[in-house]
Amino acid sequence: MSGGSESVSIKVVITKDYWEMSRLAARIIADVIRSKPNIVLGLATGGTPEGCYRELVRMHKEEGLDFSQVITFNLDEYVGLPLDHPQSYHHYMDVHLFNHVNIKRENIHIPDGTAEDLEKHCREYEEAIKKAGGIDLQLLGIGRNGHIGFNEPGSPFNSRTRVVKLTETTRRDNARFFGSLDEVPTHAITMGLATIMEARKILLLASGLNKAEAVAKAVEGPKTPDVPASILQDHPDCTFIIDREAASKLKGRYEKTFSDER
Ligand code: F6R
Repeated sequence: MSGGSESVSIKVVITKDYWEMSRLAARIIADVIRSKPNIVLGLATGGTPEGCYRELVRMHKEEGLDFSQVITFNLDEYVGLPLDHPQSYHHYMDVHLFNHVNIKRENIHIPDGTAEDLEKHCREYEEAIKKAGGIDLQLLGIGRNGHIGFNEPGSPFNSRTRVVKLTETTRRDNARFFGSLDEVPTHAITMGLATIMEARKILLLASGLNKAEAVAKAVEGPKTPDVPASILQDHPDCTFIIDREAASKLKGRYEKTFSDER
């Protein structure tokens, strides 16, 4: 070994299916909440974490998982959507998690895409994360183009919370949640790649064949801003929990939670 920097790699856990992925992620999050009740959680939206949130809600209701001291920061929000719009991430978080657990409203942070001065709002969001002591555990999904948060391909590795223009791929992918492509906002606020990398622990979830290529590029491809998730190769504690379809284009051998036997 030449005394260069230690290379770290992404830990990959392959689950049988979406539900096993969701339950495993929820169990890891619940364990960190139990060991540090005032944990600072970074949260994602989208189709992927819905099952994980459903399981966390079940754990709150059936096992008393306590969110009373938990602090949260969401990754992103659309610019220009009213906070109560059915497709806003504020609304999503209420519907999938916050309305069903005992989290304090004042402990919830989601970028406000309706803020009058968006630049100032982004700076204040970064400050609020710092003031809370930094993010302990960041949950991520991944876009088909390798985006994390709304850091689209080409996003600088040193980027921080800011306003970004959404790519056509992302707008088309998210049109399924809106009436038509025209209704999908063109811009969003997102935590930056450097902001995400400062989280002490990162969990990325991915499910389905349409994520397989992005996952393979992020884990085994070159580290490049063209695949924003590839920056995670440099994180000291990053785990991808992915189902076998999302894992289908990986070449290496990784931990599996199920046996290959039929
Ligand atoms: C959402 C977010 C996005 C999504 C990604 C995957 O807060 O940060 O990066 O995680 O677009 O979305 P789904 O899960 O809908 O495939």
